[in-house]
Amino acid sequence: GMDDSAPRPATVTVTGGAGQIGYQLLFRIAAGDMLGSDQPVRLRILETEQALPALEGVVMELHDAAFPLLTSVETTADAAVAFEGADHALLVGARPRGKGMERGDLLAANGAIFAAQGRAIQERASAGIRITVTGNPANTNALIAAAAAPDIPRERFSALTRLDHNRALAQLAAKTGAAVGDIRRMIVWGNHSATQVPDLTHAVVNGRPAIELVEREWVTGTFVPTVANRGAAIIEARGASSAASAASATIDHVRSWMLGTPADDWTSMSVVSRGEYGVPEGLVSSFPVTCAGGAWSIVEGLAMDADVRAQLDASVAELAAERDAVRALGSMG
Ligand code: NAD
Ligand code: LMR
Repeated sequence: GMDDSAPRPATVTVTGGAGQIGYQLLFRIAAGDMLGSDQPVRLRILETEQALPALEGVVMELHDAAFPLLTSVETTADAAVAFEGADHALLVGARPRGKGMERGDLLAANGAIFAAQGRAIQERASAGIRITVTGNPANTNALIAAAAAPDIPRERFSALTRLDHNRALAQLAAKTGAAVGDIRRMIVWGNHSATQVPDLTHAVVNGRPAIELVEREWVTGTFVPTVANRGAAIIEARGASSAASAASATIDHVRSWMLGTPADDWTSMSVVSRGEYGVPEGLVSSFPVTCAGGAWSIVEGLAMDADVRAQLDASVAELAAERDAVRALGSMG
Protein backbone atom coordinates (compact mmCIF):
# COMPACT_ATOMS: atom_id res chain seq x y z
CA GLY A 1 0.00 0.00 0.00
CA MET A 2 0.87 3.68 -0.04
CA ASP A 3 1.60 3.66 3.66
CA ASP A 4 2.81 0.35 5.01
CA SER A 5 2.76 1.65 8.56
CA ALA A 6 -1.02 2.24 8.55
CA PRO A 7 -2.84 -0.20 10.83
CA ARG A 8 -5.14 -2.81 9.29
CA PRO A 9 -8.73 -1.45 9.21
CA ALA A 10 -10.86 -2.50 12.18
CA THR A 11 -14.23 -4.01 11.31
CA VAL A 12 -16.96 -2.43 13.42
CA THR A 13 -20.47 -3.84 13.23
CA VAL A 14 -23.28 -1.62 14.47
CA THR A 15 -26.86 -2.85 14.81
CA GLY A 16 -29.84 -0.52 14.60
CA GLY A 17 -27.92 1.97 12.45
CA ALA A 18 -31.06 3.65 11.10
CA GLY A 19 -32.18 4.60 14.60
CA GLN A 20 -31.62 7.69 16.75
CA ILE A 21 -28.42 6.50 18.43
CA GLY A 22 -27.08 5.12 15.17
CA TYR A 23 -27.36 8.54 13.56
CA GLN A 24 -24.96 9.96 16.15
CA LEU A 25 -22.77 6.92 16.73
CA LEU A 26 -21.80 6.02 13.16
CA PHE A 27 -20.35 9.46 12.45
CA ARG A 28 -18.30 9.50 15.65
CA ILE A 29 -16.86 6.05 14.86
CA ALA A 30 -16.01 7.11 11.30
CA ALA A 31 -14.34 10.29 12.58
CA GLY A 32 -11.90 8.21 14.65
CA ASP A 33 -13.31 9.19 18.04
CA MET A 34 -13.73 5.58 19.17
CA LEU A 35 -10.62 3.68 18.10
CA GLY A 36 -8.18 6.53 17.59
CA SER A 37 -7.28 9.05 14.94
CA ASP A 38 -4.87 6.67 13.16
CA GLN A 39 -7.15 3.63 13.04
CA PRO A 40 -9.03 3.04 9.74
CA VAL A 41 -12.52 1.57 10.12
CA ARG A 42 -14.75 -0.66 8.01
CA LEU A 43 -18.37 -0.18 9.01
CA ARG A 44 -20.96 -2.95 8.79
CA ILE A 45 -24.48 -1.94 9.67
CA LEU A 46 -27.21 -4.43 10.54
CA GLU A 47 -30.82 -3.28 10.32
CA THR A 48 -34.25 -4.79 9.91
CA GLU A 49 -35.40 -5.31 6.32
CA GLN A 50 -37.93 -2.45 6.58
CA ALA A 51 -35.34 0.06 7.85
CA LEU A 52 -32.81 -0.61 5.05
CA PRO A 53 -34.13 2.18 2.74
CA ALA A 54 -33.79 4.79 5.51
CA LEU A 55 -30.36 3.38 6.34
CA GLU A 56 -29.29 4.08 2.73
CA GLY A 57 -29.75 7.78 3.47
CA VAL A 58 -27.43 7.49 6.48
CA VAL A 59 -24.88 5.72 4.28
CA MET A 60 -25.07 8.56 1.73
CA GLU A 61 -24.31 11.01 4.54
CA LEU A 62 -21.41 8.88 5.78
CA HIS A 63 -19.91 9.04 2.28
CA ASP A 64 -20.65 12.78 2.05
CA ALA A 65 -18.76 13.45 5.27
CA ALA A 66 -15.60 12.22 3.47
CA PHE A 67 -14.02 10.74 6.61
CA PRO A 68 -10.40 9.86 5.80
CA LEU A 69 -10.46 6.87 8.19
CA LEU A 70 -13.63 5.29 6.78
CA THR A 71 -12.55 2.63 4.30
CA SER A 72 -15.96 1.05 3.57
CA VAL A 73 -19.60 0.89 4.62
CA GLU A 74 -21.83 -2.13 4.09
CA THR A 75 -25.45 -2.59 5.08
CA THR A 76 -27.40 -5.79 5.52
CA ALA A 77 -30.41 -7.36 7.21
CA ASP A 78 -28.50 -10.65 7.57
CA ALA A 79 -26.64 -11.11 10.86
CA ALA A 80 -24.28 -13.68 9.31
CA VAL A 81 -23.09 -11.04 6.83
CA ALA A 82 -23.03 -8.24 9.39
CA PHE A 83 -20.73 -9.95 11.89
CA GLU A 84 -18.32 -11.55 9.39
CA GLY A 85 -14.81 -10.77 10.65
CA ALA A 86 -16.09 -8.20 13.16
CA ASP A 87 -13.59 -6.85 15.69
CA HIS A 88 -16.28 -4.86 17.51
CA ALA A 89 -19.99 -5.54 17.74
CA LEU A 90 -22.01 -2.56 18.97
CA LEU A 91 -25.46 -3.95 19.66
CA VAL A 92 -27.70 -0.89 19.66
CA GLY A 93 -30.80 -2.09 17.80
CA ALA A 94 -33.45 -3.54 20.07
CA ARG A 95 -37.17 -3.95 20.17
CA PRO A 96 -38.66 -0.92 21.95
CA ARG A 97 -41.57 -1.39 24.30
CA GLY A 98 -44.74 -0.95 22.25
CA LYS A 99 -48.28 -0.08 23.28
CA GLY A 100 -49.83 -2.77 25.43
CA MET A 101 -46.58 -4.74 25.56
CA GLU A 102 -45.85 -6.42 28.88
CA ARG A 103 -42.33 -6.65 30.26
CA GLY A 104 -42.35 -10.38 29.45
CA ASP A 105 -43.20 -9.61 25.79
CA LEU A 106 -40.28 -7.17 25.63
CA LEU A 107 -37.87 -9.68 27.16
CA ALA A 108 -39.09 -12.37 24.74
CA ALA A 109 -38.72 -10.12 21.66
CA ASN A 110 -35.23 -9.01 22.68
CA GLY A 111 -34.30 -12.52 23.79
CA ALA A 112 -34.86 -13.74 20.26
CA ILE A 113 -32.86 -10.85 18.71
CA PHE A 114 -29.86 -11.09 21.05
CA ALA A 115 -29.68 -14.89 21.01
CA ALA A 116 -29.61 -14.90 17.19
CA GLN A 117 -26.98 -12.15 17.14
CA GLY A 118 -24.89 -13.96 19.78
CA ARG A 119 -24.90 -17.11 17.63
CA ALA A 120 -23.95 -15.17 14.49
CA ILE A 121 -21.13 -13.43 16.37
CA GLN A 122 -19.75 -16.75 17.60
CA GLU A 123 -19.84 -18.23 14.10
CA ARG A 124 -18.57 -15.23 12.14
CA ALA A 125 -16.69 -12.66 14.16
CA SER A 126 -12.91 -12.27 14.39
CA ALA A 127 -11.01 -14.01 17.20
CA GLY A 128 -10.58 -10.64 18.91
CA ILE A 129 -14.28 -9.73 18.91
CA ARG A 130 -15.48 -7.39 21.67
CA ILE A 131 -19.19 -6.91 22.22
CA THR A 132 -20.86 -3.81 23.66
CA VAL A 133 -24.62 -3.85 24.24
CA THR A 134 -26.41 -0.49 24.32
CA GLY A 135 -29.92 -1.70 23.38
CA ASN A 136 -32.20 -2.14 26.40
CA PRO A 137 -32.50 -4.00 28.66
CA ALA A 138 -28.76 -3.75 28.03
CA ASN A 139 -27.37 -5.93 30.84
CA THR A 140 -29.79 -8.77 30.22
CA ASN A 141 -29.42 -8.51 26.44
CA ALA A 142 -25.66 -8.92 26.93
CA LEU A 143 -26.31 -11.95 29.15
CA ILE A 144 -28.49 -13.50 26.42
CA ALA A 145 -25.90 -12.85 23.69
CA ALA A 146 -23.15 -14.33 25.90
CA ALA A 147 -25.25 -17.44 26.63
CA ALA A 148 -25.73 -17.94 22.87
CA ALA A 149 -21.97 -17.67 22.24
CA PRO A 150 -20.35 -20.00 24.81
CA ASP A 151 -17.06 -20.29 22.87
CA ILE A 152 -16.33 -16.56 23.13
CA PRO A 153 -14.45 -15.63 26.34
CA ARG A 154 -16.86 -14.09 28.89
CA GLU A 155 -14.71 -10.98 29.29
CA ARG A 156 -15.47 -9.94 25.70
CA PHE A 157 -19.13 -9.23 26.54
CA SER A 158 -20.11 -5.88 28.01
CA ALA A 159 -23.10 -3.59 28.41
CA LEU A 160 -23.25 0.17 28.56
CA THR A 161 -23.39 1.91 31.93
CA ARG A 162 -20.94 4.62 30.86
CA LEU A 163 -23.86 6.95 30.20
CA ASP A 164 -24.90 6.60 33.84
CA HIS A 165 -21.26 7.14 34.89
CA ASN A 166 -21.07 10.30 32.75
CA ARG A 167 -24.38 11.55 34.14
CA ALA A 168 -22.99 11.08 37.67
CA LEU A 169 -19.85 13.07 36.76
CA ALA A 170 -21.98 15.88 35.34
CA GLN A 171 -24.17 16.09 38.47
CA LEU A 172 -21.21 16.16 40.84
CA ALA A 173 -19.40 18.74 38.69
CA ALA A 174 -22.46 21.00 38.67
CA LYS A 175 -22.88 20.65 42.45
CA THR A 176 -19.25 21.37 43.34
CA GLY A 177 -18.48 23.91 40.61
CA ALA A 178 -15.61 21.70 39.42
CA ALA A 179 -15.01 20.69 35.82
CA VAL A 180 -15.97 17.14 34.85
CA GLY A 181 -12.29 16.55 34.06
CA ASP A 182 -11.33 17.37 37.66
CA ILE A 183 -13.28 14.38 39.00
CA ARG A 184 -11.80 10.90 39.40
CA ARG A 185 -13.10 7.55 40.67
CA MET A 186 -16.83 7.85 40.18
CA ILE A 187 -18.69 4.52 40.21
CA VAL A 188 -22.01 3.20 38.95
CA TRP A 189 -22.82 -0.32 40.16
CA GLY A 190 -25.52 -2.79 39.11
CA ASN A 191 -28.11 -2.66 36.35
CA HIS A 192 -28.67 0.03 33.70
CA SER A 193 -32.12 0.78 35.10
CA ALA A 194 -33.68 2.89 37.82
CA THR A 195 -32.16 0.49 40.40
CA GLN A 196 -28.60 1.41 39.34
CA VAL A 197 -26.27 2.58 42.09
CA PRO A 198 -24.41 5.83 41.43
CA ASP A 199 -21.66 5.93 44.10
CA LEU A 200 -19.50 8.96 44.83
CA THR A 201 -18.08 7.65 48.12
CA HIS A 202 -14.70 6.99 46.44
CA ALA A 203 -14.79 9.99 44.11
CA VAL A 204 -12.16 12.70 44.31
CA VAL A 205 -12.69 16.29 43.10
CA ASN A 206 -9.47 18.18 42.44
CA GLY A 207 -7.77 15.77 44.82
CA ARG A 208 -10.35 16.18 47.63
CA PRO A 209 -12.79 13.44 48.67
CA ALA A 210 -16.21 14.25 47.19
CA ILE A 211 -17.92 13.28 50.46
CA GLU A 212 -16.19 16.23 52.17
CA LEU A 213 -17.66 18.60 49.56
CA VAL A 214 -21.33 17.59 49.50
CA GLU A 215 -23.91 16.83 52.18
CA ARG A 216 -25.10 13.27 52.65
CA GLU A 217 -28.68 14.53 52.25
CA TRP A 218 -27.82 15.78 48.72
CA VAL A 219 -26.27 12.42 47.85
CA THR A 220 -29.28 10.34 48.85
CA GLY A 221 -32.03 12.89 48.10
CA THR A 222 -30.78 14.43 44.85
CA PHE A 223 -27.64 12.89 43.35
CA VAL A 224 -28.68 9.23 43.31
CA PRO A 225 -32.29 9.74 42.11
CA THR A 226 -31.32 12.36 39.51
CA VAL A 227 -28.73 10.07 37.91
CA ALA A 228 -30.83 6.91 38.20
CA ASN A 229 -33.93 8.55 36.68
CA ARG A 230 -32.17 10.66 34.06
CA GLY A 231 -33.17 8.40 31.19
CA ALA A 232 -36.84 8.83 32.07
CA ALA A 233 -36.42 12.62 32.51
CA ILE A 234 -35.00 12.87 28.99
CA ILE A 235 -37.82 10.81 27.51
CA GLU A 236 -40.28 13.13 29.29
CA ALA A 237 -38.56 16.29 27.98
CA ARG A 238 -37.68 15.16 24.46
CA GLY A 239 -40.46 12.71 23.74
CA ALA A 240 -37.72 10.28 22.76
CA SER A 241 -34.96 8.53 24.68
CA SER A 242 -31.45 9.92 24.98
CA ALA A 243 -29.53 9.50 21.75
CA ALA A 244 -26.53 11.82 21.35
CA SER A 245 -25.39 11.26 24.95
CA ALA A 246 -25.98 7.51 24.62
CA ALA A 247 -23.91 7.42 21.42
CA SER A 248 -21.18 9.51 23.06
CA ALA A 249 -21.09 7.16 26.05
CA THR A 250 -20.86 4.15 23.72
CA ILE A 251 -17.83 5.78 22.08
CA ASP A 252 -16.29 6.47 25.51
CA HIS A 253 -16.90 2.87 26.62
CA VAL A 254 -15.13 1.26 23.66
CA ARG A 255 -12.39 3.89 23.63
CA SER A 256 -11.57 3.25 27.30
CA TRP A 257 -11.66 -0.52 26.74
CA MET A 258 -9.28 -0.36 23.78
CA LEU A 259 -7.09 2.64 24.54
CA GLY A 260 -7.08 2.36 28.34
CA THR A 261 -8.08 4.35 31.42
CA PRO A 262 -5.78 7.00 32.96
CA ALA A 263 -3.40 5.85 35.72
CA ASP A 264 -5.27 7.78 38.45
CA ASP A 265 -8.80 6.93 37.37
CA TRP A 266 -11.25 4.16 36.54
CA THR A 267 -14.58 3.99 34.73
CA SER A 268 -17.82 2.01 34.97
CA MET A 269 -18.61 -0.91 32.66
CA SER A 270 -21.16 -3.68 32.86
CA VAL A 271 -19.30 -6.98 32.55
CA VAL A 272 -19.84 -10.65 33.38
CA SER A 273 -19.35 -11.08 37.13
CA ARG A 274 -16.98 -13.68 38.51
CA GLY A 275 -18.47 -13.07 41.95
CA GLU A 276 -16.81 -9.73 42.70
CA TYR A 277 -18.47 -7.65 45.44
CA GLY A 278 -20.97 -10.43 46.06
CA VAL A 279 -22.56 -10.12 42.59
CA PRO A 280 -23.44 -13.72 41.60
CA GLU A 281 -21.16 -15.21 38.97
CA GLY A 282 -22.50 -14.89 35.43
CA LEU A 283 -24.69 -11.81 35.89
CA VAL A 284 -23.81 -8.78 33.75
CA SER A 285 -23.43 -5.99 36.28
CA SER A 286 -21.76 -2.59 36.34
CA PHE A 287 -18.48 -2.34 38.25
CA PRO A 288 -15.59 0.10 38.54
CA VAL A 289 -12.95 -1.06 36.04
CA THR A 290 -9.54 -0.07 34.81
CA CYS A 291 -8.56 -0.91 31.23
CA ALA A 292 -5.16 -1.53 29.65
CA GLY A 293 -4.05 -3.35 26.52
CA GLY A 294 -7.63 -3.94 25.36
CA ALA A 295 -8.66 -5.71 28.59
CA TRP A 296 -10.60 -4.54 31.64
CA SER A 297 -10.15 -5.49 35.29
CA ILE A 298 -12.56 -4.84 38.11
CA VAL A 299 -11.14 -2.57 40.82
CA GLU A 300 -11.16 -4.86 43.82
CA GLY A 301 -10.97 -4.32 47.57
CA LEU A 302 -12.98 -1.09 47.79
CA ALA A 303 -14.76 -0.50 51.08
CA MET A 304 -18.52 -0.37 50.55
CA ASP A 305 -20.76 2.22 52.15
CA ALA A 306 -23.78 0.56 53.85
CA ASP A 307 -26.33 2.44 51.66
CA VAL A 308 -24.41 1.50 48.50
CA ARG A 309 -24.28 -2.14 49.61
CA ALA A 310 -28.07 -2.26 50.18
CA GLN A 311 -28.80 -0.53 46.86
CA LEU A 312 -26.46 -2.86 44.98
CA ASP A 313 -28.15 -5.90 46.54
CA ALA A 314 -31.49 -4.62 45.22
CA SER A 315 -30.12 -3.92 41.73
CA VAL A 316 -28.51 -7.37 41.62
CA ALA A 317 -31.81 -8.94 42.69
CA GLU A 318 -33.40 -7.20 39.68
CA LEU A 319 -30.66 -8.57 37.37
CA ALA A 320 -31.23 -12.07 38.74
CA ALA A 321 -35.00 -11.72 38.21
CA GLU A 322 -34.43 -10.63 34.59
CA ARG A 323 -32.12 -13.60 34.06
CA ASP A 324 -34.70 -15.96 35.55
CA ALA A 325 -37.42 -14.46 33.31
CA VAL A 326 -35.41 -14.97 30.11
CA ARG A 327 -34.46 -18.48 31.24
CA ALA A 328 -38.15 -19.26 31.75
CA LEU A 329 -38.86 -17.90 28.24
CA GLY A 330 -36.23 -20.27 26.83
CA SER A 331 -34.01 -17.43 25.54
CA MET A 332 -30.89 -18.73 27.24
CA GLY A 333 -30.43 -22.10 25.59
P1 NAD B 1 -34.50 3.62 17.73
O1 NAD B 1 -35.81 2.95 17.87
O2 NAD B 1 -34.41 5.01 17.22
O3 NAD B 1 -33.55 2.73 16.82
C1 NAD B 1 -33.44 1.36 16.99
C2 NAD B 1 -33.13 0.76 15.63
O4 NAD B 1 -32.89 -0.62 15.82
C3 NAD B 1 -34.28 0.88 14.64
O5 NAD B 1 -33.82 1.51 13.46
C4 NAD B 1 -34.69 -0.57 14.38
O6 NAD B 1 -35.10 -0.81 13.04
C5 NAD B 1 -33.41 -1.30 14.72
N1 NAD B 1 -33.60 -2.72 15.05
C6 NAD B 1 -34.62 -3.30 15.73
N2 NAD B 1 -34.45 -4.62 15.78
C7 NAD B 1 -33.30 -4.88 15.12
C8 NAD B 1 -32.61 -6.08 14.83
N3 NAD B 1 -33.08 -7.28 15.20
N4 NAD B 1 -31.44 -5.99 14.16
C9 NAD B 1 -30.98 -4.80 13.74
N5 NAD B 1 -31.61 -3.64 13.97
C10 NAD B 1 -32.75 -3.68 14.66
O7 NAD B 1 -33.83 3.50 19.17
P2 NAD B 1 -32.59 4.33 19.75
O8 NAD B 1 -33.09 5.56 20.36
O9 NAD B 1 -31.52 4.38 18.73
O10 NAD B 1 -32.18 3.36 20.95
C11 NAD B 1 -31.67 2.08 20.70
C12 NAD B 1 -31.64 1.27 22.00
O11 NAD B 1 -30.73 1.84 22.91
C13 NAD B 1 -32.98 1.21 22.71
O12 NAD B 1 -33.14 -0.11 23.23
C14 NAD B 1 -32.80 2.18 23.86
O13 NAD B 1 -33.66 1.89 24.94
C15 NAD B 1 -31.36 1.94 24.20
N6 NAD B 1 -30.67 2.97 24.98
C16 NAD B 1 -29.73 2.54 25.86
C17 NAD B 1 -29.01 3.46 26.62
C18 NAD B 1 -27.95 2.99 27.58
O14 NAD B 1 -27.36 3.83 28.26
N7 NAD B 1 -27.64 1.70 27.68
C19 NAD B 1 -29.28 4.82 26.48
C20 NAD B 1 -30.24 5.23 25.56
C21 NAD B 1 -30.94 4.29 24.81
C1 LMR C 1 -31.33 6.08 29.07
O1 LMR C 1 -30.66 5.76 30.07
O2 LMR C 1 -31.34 7.24 28.61
C2 LMR C 1 -32.17 5.03 28.39
O3 LMR C 1 -31.74 3.75 28.73
C3 LMR C 1 -33.61 5.25 28.76
C4 LMR C 1 -34.54 4.27 28.07
O4 LMR C 1 -35.39 3.69 28.76
O5 LMR C 1 -34.42 4.09 26.83
